[in-house]
Amino acid sequence: MHQDPLGTLSRYPTVTLSHSPTPLEALPNLSRHAGGANIWIKRDDCTGLALGGNKVRKLEYYVGEARAQGADTLLITGAVQSNYIRMTVAAARRCGMDCHVQLEERVASPDPNYRNSGNVLLDRLMGATIHSYPVGEDEAGADRNLHRIADSLRAQGKSPYVIALGPGGKQLGALGYVHAARELHRQLAGRDLTMDEIVVATGSGQTHAGLLFGLRALGHTLRVTGICVRRNAKLQYPRVRDLFGKISSLLEIASPATEADIHLDDDFLAPGYGKLNPATLRAIQAAAQSEGILTDPVYSGKSMAGLLHRAQALVQTPGPEKNVLFIHTGGAPSIFAYEPELTGALEGSSAV
Ligand SMILES: Cc1ncc(COP(=O)(O)O)c(C=O)c1O
Repeated sequence: MHQDPLGTLSRYPTVTLSHSPTPLEALPNLSRHAGGANIWIKRDDCTGLALGGNKVRKLEYYVGEARAQGADTLLITGAVQSNYIRMTVAAARRCGMDCHVQLEERVASPDPNYRNSGNVLLDRLMGATIHSYPVGEDEAGADRNLHRIADSLRAQGKSPYVIALGPGGKQLGALGYVHAARELHRQLAGRDLTMDEIVVATGSGQTHAGLLFGLRALGHTLRVTGICVRRNAKLQYPRVRDLFGKISSLLEIASPATEADIHLDDDFLAPGYGKLNPATLRAIQAAAQSEGILTDPVYSGKSMAGLLHRAQALVQTPGPEKNVLFIHTGGAPSIFAYEPELTGALEGSSAV
């Protein structure tokens, strides 16, 4: 009998939190607008939990482990407008757990919408206990502080589970996207579809590396382009590479993905994490106005800008009609946190 190359995935306990498989759809209007390859979309913005997004696939593994350990409280740290935090609070609520979240001041924004609307409003609505971490980009310091909060909860008799996101952790969440690769493989096979390229946002890199690992294990050789949303390509590259090693250890199989599989584009990152740029703004409008697809200034708007660029680049290569697949990782709630910038830009009064 044919052996499943990803069979060891099932060793890990999971909790079902997502609506999956997520839809795989054609975007003919956006394809016409881009004037390049045929654009397809996998709707991981529609994963269901508290407005959806890619993080729920990772949370299925983290919460699975938390439950197996008898935890009663989830802890996570992230940017003020983190989608991960919003979805972790929702996952905790769904599983009858408490949730402590730490909001890091990574984006210097004077706008009250950034602090109060979008994801933060939803965190509050779901009753998260919110801690503030005032330092900007300080991954290690933020992690240490989160563990201090966990220690104080333990001292109060609670059983906390820290969702460890730093590169030193075992990167359990990446398994969510190995699993998603298998889901996509089945969808493509079922519809007799072939993609020439996949475009996806790359932040921690778990989505990007998990997908690549899973697709290569299943025999797909297509290019996967990661659009940098958090740090430049030079810094992102070793993160994605090291994730292959982590996933390989978790699944106890040799990595089918190599350094040569890592394609990164950081042209849409400027002026930095969580900050809009003109190409992203144009891409957000193009997706919204041609297809009613909502993307955000921090993540999916930037990867959408990268997608439009890659769709045009792909048709320059010889051969039959090309297909490019956009993994929509979600993030739309933060649109409301960027209301002044978006309104200003739409009215033509902004420098974006
Ligand atoms: C909407 C959205 N897209 C993409 C990403 C990046 O995903 P990853 O951290 O797996 O690279 C994130 C998280 O940071 C996100 O919230």
